[in-house]
Amino acid sequence: MTKLTLPKIKAFKQEGRKIVVLTVYDYPSARLLDNAGIDLLLVGDSLGNVVQGKTTTLSVTLDEIIYHAEMVVRAVERAFVVVDIPFPFCQLGSTEAIRAAARILKETSADAVKFEGGENRASTIAALVDAGIPVLGHCGLRPQEIRQTGGYFVQRQHEQLFQDITAVEKAGAFAMVLECIETELAQEATSLLRIPTIGIGAGPFCDGQVLVFHDLLGYKPEQTRTPKHVKQYADLQTIISNAVKNYADDVRNAVFPDAKNSF
Ligand code: KIV
Repeated sequence: MTKLTLPKIKAFKQEGRKIVVLTVYDYPSARLLDNAGIDLLLVGDSLGNVVQGKTTTLSVTLDEIIYHAEMVVRAVERAFVVVDIPFPFCQLGSTEAIRAAARILKETSADAVKFEGGENRASTIAALVDAGIPVLGHCGLRPQEIRQTGGYFVQRQHEQLFQDITAVEKAGAFAMVLECIETELAQEATSLLRIPTIGIGAGPFCDGQVLVFHDLLGYKPEQTRTPKHVKQYADLQTIISNAVKNYADDVRNAVFPDAKNSF
């Protein structure tokens, strides 16, 4: 398998090919996704929600994201691997952002970092790019700002959003995640920008699409409401619960291990 590089990812838009993106946090899952031909793997700070069981992404540390990203990169042959810069390194200014991003690239060998922020943080994005660090932008809903916004809402401030996306493109981001914005707005942004847009809750007209691995697979501890922007393609919750119950029954009833599993 030939490795996807930054120029190849950027060329998807001109070639009219959708960029298929999933989050991932560990070696076996990353291998499966890479073998399935997912183009871009994101070690997102959604790690805090779906792996660590937290209600926000804010507590994810740089060491934690590096720990998970290293496993993912080791598993991958083809996909382009991007790692989230965790809170508060996007917010601390250029020096701290470069320090964090450089640690990510040096210690994991990932291909790029993702940076949450709009017009207000464009100068930090420009500094990262100037330091030779490829940046995937992230505009629209920015979960690292949850304490300010008070919740995960669809973003409807059209004028601000356009200022954000144009500033992030100008700063040198190679592509941009658009999270939870109206379809029409995402469509306009996608035709306005030269760089690819990757939607999540942004309708069908983006240049690519991202979903959180656990949401796609229904890999969750209890029956919770599936957010409107998610399409669940499997029900791992039921598959895992049934398998584990069957195992427990077999052990309790002395059915497993039997002669086949014994030496
Ligand atoms: O942290 C993450 O997984 C993300 C995606 C949902 C885009 O930012």
